[in-house]
Amino acid sequence: MEIVSKINAELLEYNQKNIEKCVNDINNGNLVIFPTETVYGLGANALNEDAINKIYKLKKRPKNNPLIVHVSDWNMASIYSEINNNEKHIVEKLVNEFWPGPLTLLLKKSKFINNYITAGSEFVGLRCPDNKIAQELIRKSMCPIAAPSANISGKITSTHYKHLLEYFRNENINIIYEKEPCRYGIESTILKIENDNITIIRPGVITKKNIENVLPEITVNYKSVIQQSNSPGTDLSHYQLNKNTLLFNFIDMELLDCDKNTMENIIQMTTKYMDNSICIDFGKKNIKNRDLFAGYVDLSADGDIKEACFNLYNVLHQLNSIDNIKNVLIFDFYYGKDGMYKTMFDRIFRCSAGKRICIPTQLIKQ
Ligand code: TXA
Ligand code: MG
Repeated sequence: MEIVSKINAELLEYNQKNIEKCVNDINNGNLVIFPTETVYGLGANALNEDAINKIYKLKKRPKNNPLIVHVSDWNMASIYSEINNNEKHIVEKLVNEFWPGPLTLLLKKSKFINNYITAGSEFVGLRCPDNKIAQELIRKSMCPIAAPSANISGKITSTHYKHLLEYFRNENINIIYEKEPCRYGIESTILKIENDNITIIRPGVITKKNIENVLPEITVNYKSVIQQSNSPGTDLSHYQLNKNTLLFNFIDMELLDCDKNTMENIIQMTTKYMDNSICIDFGKKNIKNRDLFAGYVDLSADGDIKEACFNLYNVLHQLNSIDNIKNVLIFDFYYGKDGMYKTMFDRIFRCSAGKRICIPTQLIKQ
């Protein structure tokens, strides 16, 4: 027999009546959860301080972590940013190429953006989503919408309406949703622009190469997750699972200067550990050894990194609901690689808080 518990949050399909309902919420200083092409957002009128406080409270987000502001186009974004001629040249090219789409621009803020959005920073994150519900919500509300990802702070991002219910089922909040999961399933790329300096603050769907193709004369810098672990909002406790989570790779025990007894002990302990772990693979790299683990899932059996990024959060949500397994081991195929491999590494590094295990090659079938 299934026990069905009451859901307070209201799931609204896309139609004009429901869009109106959500527009009213935004205009009345309430919160709304809405889809974007990357992940779901928890939105409020960016110009209403009380509404913004509600986001921080509901999400349990530290106040030093700023919010991205969603706009309908560059016309709207230009009201909330102030850029010099150098920056104008860069921004124009990026906006023409990538907006609407999964690229957030971190620009000097104008006086119309308050410190409660930027956590005191002089820069504001502006994003123009490529999703018809998000666009309609912004246009009809006639205000910029501040929205972090719709999850409790530090927990796994929501890319499907079912994920949202794990966090918000008991809240009185309207959720306007799509049946399909979010198109990319991973957050936008965040790009900081200051004079001629362009820095990727968070890797996402749009890669360094995509940006350099549009701006061949400019070098795009990249601030890796390892370098920025002290800045606000970049905590390593992101995307936390309810299981011990580690990255894994391999080591040849012959290379270690240890005696036979120690070696056998390590192999025995690792075997035991793996037997209580689920393996998150990529491109069938560990399929031959799947029986060494308690469970196995591949983010993309075809080795397609875009598909792997799309699947990541959904897989993590599913793992959270499995009870009798202690550990999750994520195969690190991504470190040191470019493009969306960097995006994946950023997310799994945070998810594991940088912890690693090396599995002796002596244990596996090559
Ligand atoms: O795809 C996305 O960007 C999604 C959808 C909903 O648009 N949003 C999203 O928001 O991922 P959030 O809050 O989960 O992540 C935004 C990140 C945070 O790490 C935050 O610290 C950073 O962007 N951020 C936002 N505004 C910033 C600012 N003014 N300066 C520096 N970092 C900023
Ligand atoms: Mg987030």
